[in-house]
Amino acid sequence: MNELIEELANPVVLIVDDEFLQRLPMREALEQASFRVLEAEDGRQAWAFIQRERPDLVLSDVVMPRMDGFSLCETIRHQDELAHLPVVLATSLDDVASIERAYQAGATDFITKPIHWGLIGHRVRYILRSARTAQALADRESALLRARLEIVRRLGWAAEYRDNETGQHILRMSQYAVLLGRAIGLSAHDQELLLNAAPMHDVGKIGIPDSILLKPGKLTTDEFSVMQTHTVLGGKLLDEEPSLLLRTAYLIALAHHERWDGKGYPFGLEQDDIPLMGRICSLADVFDALTSKRPYKEAWSVAQAVEEISRCSGTAFDPRLVQAFLDILPEIVQVKEAHADTEQTGSESLAQSLLLR
Ligand SMILES: [Fe+2]
Ligand SMILES: [Fe+2]
Repeated sequence: MNELIEELANPVVLIVDDEFLQRLPMREALEQASFRVLEAEDGRQAWAFIQRERPDLVLSDVVMPRMDGFSLCETIRHQDELAHLPVVLATSLDDVASIERAYQAGATDFITKPIHWGLIGHRVRYILRSARTAQALADRESALLRARLEIVRRLGWAAEYRDNETGQHILRMSQYAVLLGRAIGLSAHDQELLLNAAPMHDVGKIGIPDSILLKPGKLTTDEFSVMQTHTVLGGKLLDEEPSLLLRTAYLIALAHHERWDGKGYPFGLEQDDIPLMGRICSLADVFDALTSKRPYKEAWSVAQAVEEISRCSGTAFDPRLVQAFLDILPEIVQVKEAHADTEQTGSESLAQSLLLR
């Protein structure tokens, strides 16, 4: 990890205190410890400094006119790009309520008054180093997450490519899934999970022979049995992954052909036993399949597809999801129109989508 943490030669510390006689020894002690120092007289002045000068650490008093240390800390924490800026509040050791309040406001740490000037440099350097380690870890984690997401997305594209469908299909169905998720009150976090996991619903089709997958006519019973295994194959591909994203994708791959009445596959799960994300993707996937042209069928109109989905409420689909779908139909249609298929073949469209991304 050490190589990730760039040591700063002269880190900039912003001291915030309304009393000059407090700032003065603080400045001297920090400068002696090789820090560069900025000074502000209250929270509001400090906030202006932070936006302009981007100090490496803020060391603030709590009780100040205009904006106190807690408010300053909260203001900083409301800015995403300042999430890792270390903020240290100076409180009295016996003032436990203030210490508690400092942590609630998002302070990185606190130092107790009276401040020991000889030790302040060590303390600040230690806090700075811990914060930079945390930031390096967070950066590395988000880079890993992005790489994993990208691989997984491309796996989804690859599966759809084999299926002769256009790249637009997974784009549309995953957005329908998000709209449905939002309509039934899923959190923003879960909606994002859906957006990223839904594209992998048919990833198991990678393991289905071309003679079945690409057959233009109706499948025989045996062929259909093989086709159904794409759910379990997808599950195997995505299993034993600790990340929540792939865990969600795993559930979706397994459950997106289950039916509310228990007559789906691969397990014949019923109602709430079917993972919710799978139920959502099932409806989103079927609506897109119905309204899209496929080698074996023409595209249905939205009205026809809506009629079919309503008819299947309580049999194929979760009735609550069908109702939500009907409620948000205008938004669904907007997505459909924004990502309509072109006359290109699936492979051309896929190649273009990959190039354009
Ligand atoms: Fe499928
Ligand atoms: Fe699909």
